[in-house]
Amino acid sequence: MAVDSQLTALQVMQDAPVIPVIVLNDVAHAVPVARALVAGGIRMLEVTLRTPQALACMEAIARDVPEAVLGAGTVRSAADARAAAAAGARFVVSPGYTSAVGQACRDLGLPLLPGVATGSEIMMCQEDGLSELKFFPAMQAGGAAILKAWSGPFTDIRFCPTGGVTMANATELLALSNVVCVGGSWLVPPDALAQRDWSRITRSAQSAKGLRRSAG
Ligand code: 3PG
Repeated sequence: MAVDSQLTALQVMQDAPVIPVIVLNDVAHAVPVARALVAGGIRMLEVTLRTPQALACMEAIARDVPEAVLGAGTVRSAADARAAAAAGARFVVSPGYTSAVGQACRDLGLPLLPGVATGSEIMMCQEDGLSELKFFPAMQAGGAAILKAWSGPFTDIRFCPTGGVTMANATELLALSNVVCVGGSWLVPPDALAQRDWSRITRSAQSAKGLRRSAG
């Protein structure tokens, strides 16, 4: 899939079965991690804004790994969205939704995957024109059962379940008609970072890339 300046949330979700959730504490890890994931076939990368080094890590990836499509995670405010865009983010993921974050992303021209965990939150996102949503925290909030329940009233909504997702439960989620991809931090575990074990991250990405999904 070609990725152009008109990147959509659906394209972000469709590119691979898994969006890696990346937590970086060391700028020196940013580029090797991004290259390791891209080498494993995964290029939509969500770097979370939850460490002091996150924006510097994003800048490094945006500058040095052009094959990656950099996204910002844990975006909780319009200011976060603007900072992420300035650091090179091309899409935004948030753990919840506010209309201020939605407006900021529209103003910036960035696709947004907002987090929802209830029907009311889904409806608020729909009111603001958003129909590709992150289900967070997925496994803690009901997992596959709640996604199946939502497929009735929310037939036009597509989800990226994230939170507690692993290789072991991803298959069940990806088999659902309203799940396009899943998100998770398991591809970039802290011990692999500490050991600078980039080949392990590439192997994890290859395994995740090979997951089958039914929706698209
Ligand atoms: C997120 O930020 O989306 C989640 O913290 C990722 O959840 P996980 O660590 O359980 O994969």
